[in-house]
Amino acid sequence: MDRLFLPVLLGTNRQERNSVFPARWLVGEMEKRADIETRLFDVGDFALPQDDYGQGLKDRFPEWRDAIIRADGLVIVSPEYNHGYPGSLKAVLDLLLREYVHKAVAFVGVSAGPWGGTRVIEAMVTMVRELGLAVTFSDLNFPKVQKTFDSEGKLLDQAYEKRAKDFLDELVWMGTVLKWGRKNMPSKHHPKVT
Ligand SMILES: Cc1cc2nc3c(=O)[nH]c(=O)nc-3n(C[C@H](O)[C@H](O)[C@H](O)COP(=O)(O)O)c2cc1C
Repeated sequence: MDRLFLPVLLGTNRQERNSVFPARWLVGEMEKRADIETRLFDVGDFALPQDDYGQGLKDRFPEWRDAIIRADGLVIVSPEYNHGYPGSLKAVLDLLLREYVHKAVAFVGVSAGPWGGTRVIEAMVTMVRELGLAVTFSDLNFPKVQKTFDSEGKLLDQAYEKRAKDFLDELVWMGTVLKWGRKNMPSKHHPKVT
């Protein structure tokens, strides 16, 4: 089976962010698998202008643009900020549009509270639908993230290994089916095989 290219987007540029720990840990889990190729993107690395927005800027970020063109799906790691997602995450996602269509997306929710970002994930579902992404139904939730990793980013709860496997298995299934569909079922949204 061909490997799927599934980049991971870390969705906050907050200083002292804890979301970096689950993002890095999950990339490590993905790199162990023979069926996945991945790369970590960090919204903090995007020098976004304060006075402009949207697809007109995409050629300023060629690595992100080309990664999503090639991608079979995407993992978004988002903290929950007042039950929503960070503006920096939305600004990066909004750099592209048709490049996402008919590709899979899976969500990792991160929170200090007990719900593991369930509310931010619900908020993202409605938003990514407009991007043409197809949402998996297996989320990965990190409640009380400050107690789940130590200060060096070491995972303290091994139960996440099985959860991450199930989460990635579902994303691979969705990504594989959609890849087959893009190749074999013509659509006005992807006239060329991707
Ligand atoms: C502006 C802001 C709003 C927040 N709102 C919530 C919230 O609604 N629910 C929650 O569980 N934690 C909330 N938190 C705490 C974050 O979930 C916590 O910082 C966690 O570590 C994930 O975010 P981080 O990657 O920025 O650290 C908020 C944090 C900030 C900075």
